[in-house]
Amino acid sequence: MSRDSCWRALRQSAHSLQDTHLSELLADESRFDTLSFEHDGVLLDLSRQRFTPDVLQQLVELAQASGLRDGIDALIGGARVNHTEQRAALHTALRTPADGHVLVDGEDVIPEVQATLDKMETLIATLHSGQWRGFSGEAIDTVVNIGVGGSDLGPLMACHALEEFQPDAARSIELHFVSSMDGSQLSGLLSRLNPATTLFVLSSKSFTTIDTLANAATACQWLVDASGLEREIILRHHFIGITAQPDKASEWGIPTQNQLLFWEWTGGRYSLWSAIGFPIAVQIGMAGFRQLLAGAHSMDRHFQQAEFDRNLPVLLALTGIWNINLLDIHANAILPYDGRLAHLPAYLEQLEMESNGKSVRLDGNRVDTRTCPVLWGEIGPNAQHAFYQLLHQGTEAVMCDFIVPIRRYTDQSPHLQEQHRLALANCLAQARVLALGDHALDPQQAAAAPPWKRYRGNQPSSMILLDELTPYSLGQLIALYEHKVYTQAVIWQINPFDQWGVELGKKMATEMLGALEQNACDHDFDCATRGLLERIAARGDRT
Ligand code: F6P
Repeated sequence: MSRDSCWRALRQSAHSLQDTHLSELLADESRFDTLSFEHDGVLLDLSRQRFTPDVLQQLVELAQASGLRDGIDALIGGARVNHTEQRAALHTALRTPADGHVLVDGEDVIPEVQATLDKMETLIATLHSGQWRGFSGEAIDTVVNIGVGGSDLGPLMACHALEEFQPDAARSIELHFVSSMDGSQLSGLLSRLNPATTLFVLSSKSFTTIDTLANAATACQWLVDASGLEREIILRHHFIGITAQPDKASEWGIPTQNQLLFWEWTGGRYSLWSAIGFPIAVQIGMAGFRQLLAGAHSMDRHFQQAEFDRNLPVLLALTGIWNINLLDIHANAILPYDGRLAHLPAYLEQLEMESNGKSVRLDGNRVDTRTCPVLWGEIGPNAQHAFYQLLHQGTEAVMCDFIVPIRRYTDQSPHLQEQHRLALANCLAQARVLALGDHALDPQQAAAAPPWKRYRGNQPSSMILLDELTPYSLGQLIALYEHKVYTQAVIWQINPFDQWGVELGKKMATEMLGALEQNACDHDFDCATRGLLERIAARGDRT
């Protein structure tokens, strides 16, 4: 079947299902068994989506007609799927086991991937054993990651999620993250940290990101001032550089032995599996980091090998396509019911919106369908006391992703175990009420309720159940979303691996900085910019 006829068939299905409430669909007792799918301890339940198994089959046909099978082979095989930058996007190679082979331009990249992991391992061992010494000879006990976007969000999210997997050797190291260019995170930290025992990890694929370089310059000066030593000595003892641009890192002053490298074919928002994951290995050790890679690899193999009608990333992506393109839903809430996943929504915001927030197709023409929706989220239990009101009684249709581990605190106090049950109960209850609305109540009671106590329900949701949250299952979860994003990009025929949209703003900010520094207003600026610059200049003079 052609893509056009697949879309046509789907539009007809959407039309015929438009008045069907989820409560009617859920009356089918076999629905959970038919619409929930499992791979290696990850369960994806789609029974609360507003479709039928037949529609899911039509969506699978759309994926087939869109050339997804070839698309997956191209991605994992190292083809230049990022056509605007003429690059492969080989995050999957970063988690390929040592005996695997992935060719880029005829060269196997796995040996250098493994060599970098080995170098990371050596640095981590030096740190954990107290052998990395600062300028005064004291052992480093604090690591500060300086990076932004993909060079921050992935490691931050994973370190927060996996804190309890810290091996004893890692307990002596305190870890911090600094990203924002305004220096507010850094200034607070520097007033508390001991310069003699602090190591900065400068994480930047391009090594040109002004946010990161500004924070790094402030940190370096702080160390120079505190030690009274030359910059060069400080850089040798207190800075590691992680980058795909070693020349630029060297130019900035990071000695080669303190550099950990990755490759242009690793996208920034797909880079936590590379040396950018160094802070994760500081936190959970290399064995834990390798578990994270193994979990992601398990999802990669599943993505590559499983039939689409039981392929978790493909099914998650197709569900999104149905909601966005056929049901006209433009918002996706990410709702983890586990505080350890607090940074997952921010991580997925970048992964999904920077990847698929596009409106130009691979052939250069404008898309004729909607692409990435607005994605946001919060730890579910907290969101219940914030924006769930809108989900339950607002005017917006929102698709929700609930994410929760089945087991937690198994070897801890019964009180904590009870708290986890409470979180699970809330997660299941919210998903149920969002789907069923008043239909979850006794019909007489529902009918007697005043309008402001009515619940329309019919909000679609997916439930992702992990057996437990571990480095392995977190790796699976992140890879699940990465491949979801790629699948949708193939269907929308867009490039998920570039981000030209953010480039113009960066360029303009440089011009604006010049104008602010010189108190000079370029007359080419628009009137709003001129007005604000003049106001800032006038107020600035008064201080
Ligand atoms: O501004 C967007 C971006 O390029 C992201 O894609 C990237 O993750 C982030 O900036 C940081 O880039 P870098 O690692 O090169 O400093």
